[in-house]
Amino acid sequence: MPATITIQPGQVLERVLSMEIVRVTERAAVSAARLRGHGREKDSDQAAVDAMRRELNKLPIDGTVVIGEGEIDEAPMLFIGEKVGNKTGPKVDIAVDPLEGTTLCAKNMPGAVATIAMAESGTLLHAPDCYMEKIAIGPGYPKGTVDLDAPTEENILNLAKAKGVKPTEITAILLDRPRHDKIIAAVRKTGAAVSLITAGDVTGVIHVAEPKTGLDIYLGTGGAPEGVLAAAALRCIGGQMQARLVIDSDELKSRIAKMGIKDARKRYEIEDMVKGDCLFAATGVTTGAMLQGVKFSKDIIETETIVMRSVTGTVRRVWGEHRQHEKFHLG
Ligand code: FBP
Repeated sequence: MPATITIQPGQVLERVLSMEIVRVTERAAVSAARLRGHGREKDSDQAAVDAMRRELNKLPIDGTVVIGEGEIDEAPMLFIGEKVGNKTGPKVDIAVDPLEGTTLCAKNMPGAVATIAMAESGTLLHAPDCYMEKIAIGPGYPKGTVDLDAPTEENILNLAKAKGVKPTEITAILLDRPRHDKIIAAVRKTGAAVSLITAGDVTGVIHVAEPKTGLDIYLGTGGAPEGVLAAAALRCIGGQMQARLVIDSDELKSRIAKMGIKDARKRYEIEDMVKGDCLFAATGVTTGAMLQGVKFSKDIIETETIVMRSVTGTVRRVWGEHRQHEKFHLG
């Protein structure tokens, strides 16, 4: 008789769902990948959203989207506050970016992913779709090695010292935006190198925690939803991150007030954005430094997914071979 594995109720989030959420990002990635290179950003995003929502609603969870495609009046699906899941399991908060890097997908450029984070109810930061200042480094450094409010030069020098290398051996990754010109100049002044990305700062932040990338520090301003997703990933694999919402209009002020954020200038650490155990998953849409993109062949669709659990720090790479079967139509 086969051995029975008993999953305790408290283990559902950590164990069962860590495999279930792979299906969610796989389906979103395949749907978006069908429109790679077609220049149709909105359509590929919508395809990913539809697929992700369909899959989420099959999961044994009582979920609430806290980071989504926008507010209820601006997003038809996966809006902030939307309930997902079949309501038979634990109450969870969900952060989604069904297609992170819509332009990358539309132009068939490297690095577009479908991504999700899941955590116990009430533990993920409810952030509006605004900008967020971010700084992040990988694991193994003393706390306080870098500081969101310190001058860039100081952060690079302190990081180099903590790593035991010269500043010229440090590489910073930033989104290639005019708003980052001063930071880029400051990094270069120290002798450190700059690596610029055109989009996709969830993976941009994760890269600093992956030694093989050779990237040491993420700097600059990107999306707040992407910031919370990246914080969830770093909560799983280690690293430090500090962030602050960019609240630069009265409209945003009233939006964050409604979300329960009292201090618009609050500096968030990872533990403030993701207060408890979490899961994070991303599936490649286009091939990038972290993940292989979706590959279509006659009978099989291949996907690569990275899935992480904070409770153990386990990172799995799941290589999916999906049969193109009538009953199992993917995306
Ligand atoms: P989308 O997938 O929504 O297009 O976001 C891509 C992205 O590059 C994010 O990774 C990043 O946080 C944000 O856009 C930066 O915003 P902007 O392009 O306005 O500088």
